[in-house]
Amino acid sequence: MFFHRHPLIALLSVTGLVFLPAAVNATDLEAGKSIFESTCAVCHGVNGRPDPDSPVVQGLGTQPADLSDPLFNSREPAGDWRMVIKYGGHAMGIGEKMPAHKDALTDEQIADVTAYGKSLVDTSAYPPGEMNLFLPTRTKKAFPEDEVVYKGRYTDQAGENPLKSVLEIEKRIGKRGQGILELVHVNDAAGSELTDVELGYKHALSWSESHILSGAVIFAAPVNSGDSDGELQTYLAYGRKFSPSWILQSSLRLKFPMDKASDGAVELAGAVHYVHTPWPRRVFPGLEIIAESPFRSRNGDVEWTALPQVRVGLTRGGHVALNLAVELPLSGQSWDNRAYLTLLWDFADGSFFKGW
Ligand code: HEC
Repeated sequence: MFFHRHPLIALLSVTGLVFLPAAVNATDLEAGKSIFESTCAVCHGVNGRPDPDSPVVQGLGTQPADLSDPLFNSREPAGDWRMVIKYGGHAMGIGEKMPAHKDALTDEQIADVTAYGKSLVDTSAYPPGEMNLFLPTRTKKAFPEDEVVYKGRYTDQAGENPLKSVLEIEKRIGKRGQGILELVHVNDAAGSELTDVELGYKHALSWSESHILSGAVIFAAPVNSGDSDGELQTYLAYGRKFSPSWILQSSLRLKFPMDKASDGAVELAGAVHYVHTPWPRRVFPGLEIIAESPFRSRNGDVEWTALPQVRVGLTRGGHVALNLAVELPLSGQSWDNRAYLTLLWDFADGSFFKGW
């Protein structure tokens, strides 16, 4: 067809900017059902729940995934399932007992059986795993998940050169919530100390297959109570997928010091990532822009920064990943540059040591 051949359209579809309707074939659930029953049910069970008494299941030595569990089913993006079904568990960093089907099934059949697998249980009350987007450096993430994150920030600032380390433990609560615990440690010219403990909760407010919006509240308590009375933070986080290749995340955060809320600040952050391949163990470029301003802003108080960065998937399934970023001041900051190293482990996808 003309549209496919036009070089501009071809270029745009390669970069993922344009999706020709023809490229997205509607999946056939009936076909998916019959493939599932003939090919997958022997291990996963006819309804998606593996039968523990089946000799095949017992012989595997690894429990096949329970596709009828709504939390498991919802938090896994369909694209990841297609990869696992096509290339097998080993290629995607899970057990090798999940066989590859690339010789037995066409891409279309894999899409059909994935769609059927996704339809085995009603997941409408759970945010979809499609919206579990790459963790940016400063922009807040909307998806509620199970994750441990270490974030180190080195600031190039004459005489002080502080290294701030944050350990975040995030745990999914129920269908759409997430608990947050953060420990903040600072090492600078004045010494080394644990400065804050932060406790919070995030709640997914609205979502679809292409967007998610969440709200969160966090209380930051200083460890040394002489320092301050602490700070209350609240944010809205929004994630959007424009295509499989382009994702945008943004957040609006308000910080209220407990002793004087009007001395707080507002931060607006945005991040774009280019997801050029469905293989997770790759390097993905991203760019963030941050604007932060005190509530009582005078002219020129807004601090702008840019953070070019890369996401580096470390495990075959990408559940352990690095993010490396530099932060460049675009306005009159007191520091020169910053460098960030973020190591994240999505523990819903298994142990830290799995799938390297
Ligand atoms: C020989 C048994 C077997 C067959 C046949 C099989 N699977 Fe699996 N499957 C497994 C096992 C075992 C796991 C869990 C691997 C692990 O977590 O280590 C698994 C995992 C999965 C997962 C979870 C992937 C993830 O990211 O955790 C999906 C989805 C899946 N299988 C779908 C299918 C579909 C669809 C078919 C048929 C086309 C199929 N499987 C056929 C054994 C099987």
